[in-house]
Amino acid sequence: MCGIVGAIAQRDVVAHLIDGLKRLEYRGYDSSGIAVLNDGIHRVRRVGRVAEMEAAAAEEGAHGHVGIGHTRWATHGGVTEPNAHPHVSGDVVVVHNGIIENHESQRQRLRDLGYTFESQTDTEVIAHLVHHYLQTEGELLAAVQRAVRELDGAYAIGVVSTRQPDLLVGARMGCPLLVGLGEGENFIASDVSAVLAATRRVMFLEEGDVVALRLDGVQVFDRDGAAIERAVRLSDVSLASLELGPYNHFMQKEIHEQPKALADTIEQVLEQGFSPALFGDESGEVLRQVEGVQILACGTSFYAGSVAKYWIERIAKLPCTVEIASEYRYREAVANPKYLIVTISQSGETLDTMEALKYAQSLGHDLSLSICNVRESAIPRASRLVFYTRAGAEIGVASTKAFTTQLVALFTLAATLAKLGGKLSADEEHAHLDALRQLPGSVQHALNLEPQIKPWADRFAPKHHALYLGRGVHYPIAMEGALKIKEITYIHAEAYAAGELKHGPLALVDEEMPVVVIAPNDSLLEKVKSNMQEVRARGGELFVFADLDSHFGESDGVHVIRTPRHVGVLSPVVHAIPVQLLSYHTALARGTDVDKPRNLAKSVTVE
Ligand code: AGP
Repeated sequence: MCGIVGAIAQRDVVAHLIDGLKRLEYRGYDSSGIAVLNDGIHRVRRVGRVAEMEAAAAEEGAHGHVGIGHTRWATHGGVTEPNAHPHVSGDVVVVHNGIIENHESQRQRLRDLGYTFESQTDTEVIAHLVHHYLQTEGELLAAVQRAVRELDGAYAIGVVSTRQPDLLVGARMGCPLLVGLGEGENFIASDVSAVLAATRRVMFLEEGDVVALRLDGVQVFDRDGAAIERAVRLSDVSLASLELGPYNHFMQKEIHEQPKALADTIEQVLEQGFSPALFGDESGEVLRQVEGVQILACGTSFYAGSVAKYWIERIAKLPCTVEIASEYRYREAVANPKYLIVTISQSGETLDTMEALKYAQSLGHDLSLSICNVRESAIPRASRLVFYTRAGAEIGVASTKAFTTQLVALFTLAATLAKLGGKLSADEEHAHLDALRQLPGSVQHALNLEPQIKPWADRFAPKHHALYLGRGVHYPIAMEGALKIKEITYIHAEAYAAGELKHGPLALVDEEMPVVVIAPNDSLLEKVKSNMQEVRARGGELFVFADLDSHFGESDGVHVIRTPRHVGVLSPVVHAIPVQLLSYHTALARGTDVDKPRNLAKSVTVE
């Protein structure tokens, strides 16, 4: 969602701020702005794309050696220029990610002190509060430290003031903020991608930290105000991984990167076998205690968890429940401390998933594992165990390579739990490792189906609705397919377990309703075939993703695309590919914004 950048340098920082904001665009936003200090405060804000704000900044000749910038995804107050960040109070300028929960009471208090408000945002409260304390403290760092003590809620902020133009202050609580360390120049950002053009040396701030950045160095203070050292790391995210290269869209690039993303993720498993060591130092001790698994996640990550339920119960013979994080966190759940809480999140920042984890911990769940794609993000840091997928940066809002690598992580978890519980014979372990070894190649074969899928996309493009059907372990792939087509093509799609069709949704089926079926040759294929007959008998047009071993042919109203062979237990990973490609090409045919679908954000850091 929102993004923060900040810089202090001997050079003009406007280009850095704007480049950083462009790299944060993928997170989702509806307005953007920068403020730089020269003789005064030069602020430029625009509703719409960063490019529009960039053009305005160039036209106005904005320049300065210290500045902050922001992409805003509206929460408090509409999408308007006055609500766009940065927000100014006298000589103080602030950008903010997160939500200040006590903004109403602070707003009243500040009004009583004589402050007036120009926006509807909670952020303006922070600007006034820092300005207020700057009068009493006389120093920006101390003013920020005083102000943040009075904020309830979540925040990452960047603050500058013309009173001290040689200083940039950052602070965080509940939202990510990192420092980029350059040579004679320093940076803040909410996401590492926004500093990589300047430096790969980064320092992740901890909860409650306040940081003072100057040209010649950086000082960090913890939540009690004590000076503290935070580890400096070399980011392993490459700038090239954030570029489009020869592709037209990040989603297209990320779909095609899957064989490599999977091979990179699988590499660690093939090296170590199904060993607890894959999940972190304490994992032997933690995983041996596990009597069941509770998975918590949102969106596509929830569907990955839904596939894993089948694997964990079938392979590890452990009970497994999967729940949408935003539901779990408000439910009066009955805790079983012997259950492993598994959170799944590409970004590691999703607020609902983070809060669900905290809620589980408050109920006495001490055994926790995070499956995540972003190192050092909040959710893995709050978990005892972690498995990092190696998908690389995922920029497209629609998750693709993160999903399939999450499936590999979850399959590995199922097999590891099985091994620890004495439920996996040496032959089975060998077979599962071999299946993983073959997987990138099978996914490449599925990608090669693209020319066959394009004509289907053209037939889909004029439709208003679609049904997706699957059974067993492939039912979540139908759900993922329906989500993918909804989010990037805006075609209304619903997924059903195919056996459920006759209990209601069959009433929707007519000649206008395309029905996508995931029908590989697994133990439920005959059942799926019967469900397909039910659709055909009502005039519904079937688009079936099968494999060479599912023996049925094309006929009138039944179109079939086959993967080269059935890959056994990992078949859901392979069948995720055609539904991704169908969505991508349908979006192209409809002319929608593939990478930045309307109303959506990549990292959902608000409720
Ligand atoms: C996926 O295509 C979606 N954009 C969305 O459902 C996403 O998977 C969800 O918001 C969870 O994100 P996370 O994996 O970063 O926690």
